[in-house]
Amino acid sequence: MQVTMRGIDKAFGPVRVLDSVHFNIGGGEIHALMGENGAGKSTLMKILSGVYLPDRGEILVDGKPVQIRDTVDAERAGIAIIHQELNLIPQLSVMENMFLGREPSRFGVVDRKAMRAQSRKWLDTVGAQRIDPDMEAGRLSIGQQQLVEIAKALSLDARVLVMDEPTAALTHHEIDTLFEIMLALKSRGVALVYVSHRMEEIFRICDKVSVLRDGQFVGERVTRETSFDDIVRLMVGRELGERFPKRSTTPGAVRLHVSDLADDGNVSGITFDVRAGEVLGIAGLMGAGRSEILRTLFGVNRKTAGTVTLDGKPLDVRDATSAIDAGIGFVTEDRKNQGLVLGMSVRENATLVHLDNYARLGVVDTAAERDAVDQLIKQLRIRTRDAELDVKSLSGGNQQKVVFAKWLASPPKVLLLDEPTRGVDVGGKAEIYTIVNQLASQGVAIVMVSSELPEVLAMSDRVLVMHQGRQNGIFPADGATQELIMTAATGGDVTAAGDAAAA
Ligand SMILES: Nc1ncnc2c1ncn2[C@@H]1O[C@H](COP(=O)(O)OP(=O)(O)O)[C@@H](O)[C@H]1O
Ligand SMILES: [Mg+2]
Repeated sequence: MQVTMRGIDKAFGPVRVLDSVHFNIGGGEIHALMGENGAGKSTLMKILSGVYLPDRGEILVDGKPVQIRDTVDAERAGIAIIHQELNLIPQLSVMENMFLGREPSRFGVVDRKAMRAQSRKWLDTVGAQRIDPDMEAGRLSIGQQQLVEIAKALSLDARVLVMDEPTAALTHHEIDTLFEIMLALKSRGVALVYVSHRMEEIFRICDKVSVLRDGQFVGERVTRETSFDDIVRLMVGRELGERFPKRSTTPGAVRLHVSDLADDGNVSGITFDVRAGEVLGIAGLMGAGRSEILRTLFGVNRKTAGTVTLDGKPLDVRDATSAIDAGIGFVTEDRKNQGLVLGMSVRENATLVHLDNYARLGVVDTAAERDAVDQLIKQLRIRTRDAELDVKSLSGGNQQKVVFAKWLASPPKVLLLDEPTRGVDVGGKAEIYTIVNQLASQGVAIVMVSSELPEVLAMSDRVLVMHQGRQNGIFPADGATQELIMTAATGGDVTAAGDAAAA
């Protein structure tokens, strides 16, 4: 089966989101659709799957034009999509979700036994033997929910399966499982569209790559005939320069000193220093206690033992407000819930922590505030047409830059970063690294939790590795390898290497 999208235009109100886009995929092929946040990938795939109607353009299946007016038409054409924001109804069971609106019935009554048996069969096909069809969908992990969606797509006999950024919230193990399933589907002749901006994954499993930039199709490549740099150039429209920009500053005096820190049962025995202008990375597996260290330092989790000093003075934070007052900034993992006020404008968010900088006699000086924000938008290359737009209208990477803008407006003494580039595309990542370096060169002491090993090794001066709530070594990033970090993260004996670093 060959599906071709030709000359697709789409606008939302006055905003042109897709401009004469082409896309082509054949059976037995895994085709990556790449592009920076906001490039139009999800919109194009929603058109293919009948969620949106295009303003112009056509879709051909095996050379013949087809009308896809809604998702039912798409299903009939054999096209299924697994959306970026998953779509299961949490209160319904797995099997009810899979057969919603097409429940098998006998004598006019829903045949739950048949539904259970069919669900079982399709769940087994995707290797989800452990998922019970009767289980409430809301109790599944994100990875499991994705498997249910794939099983559902297969039960619909999808010949084209679109997956929109499926690995964003998956564990390494779940990603491996997903890739195995994708390869199995490919060998059965299914056409898979894989939407992502994760370069390593593309080179691991995709046959072809199509790239969108700012709503335009900029090229198609055969994966094994292209390179990382080539794809990045297509995506961002310029040479990226270095993937990890270098920092030129040398660390100064110790700013943050942490000794034998513990919280309410997640972490204990945490001891480290961070110097002015230094980046201390924190690596470890999910659940090892990395975020908990930051949350305890920021006063969100309760400190139960240990001492913390800032610039030589004892630091005692009771809550986030007192942490900010003491000079500690925090960019959280969960920017949607903690970092930003989505219903407020870019300007309001950027100056939220520091409104008093722009206030004269207690009145906010909007002109000064606006100038400062416009400068930040330029400096951080935040893609927004207007500082007055709501933050929720921005793409993930740009939202994250607004979070950084908050702290750049008036740098803290210590900045805690939790997965600062999660969900951010390559161009945005490089920009965030540059901001981190800038803050470091201004003397900020930075503690950065990251799950991406190349990132944590390249951006840190030293890396502290967590294993099950305790630290298992601090290593100079220079000379440390991904293998060493993984060994430490999985509880291996790394004392020799760790001692060298602690000295
Ligand atoms: N329903 C919508 N209404 C208005 N604008 C939208 C809507 N959906 C997407 N957009 C805008 O269209 C652009 C492309 O978005 P999207 O297709 O989600 O990009 P991607 O998936 O590549 O990150 C973005 O600027 C986004 O803000
Ligand atoms: Mg998207």
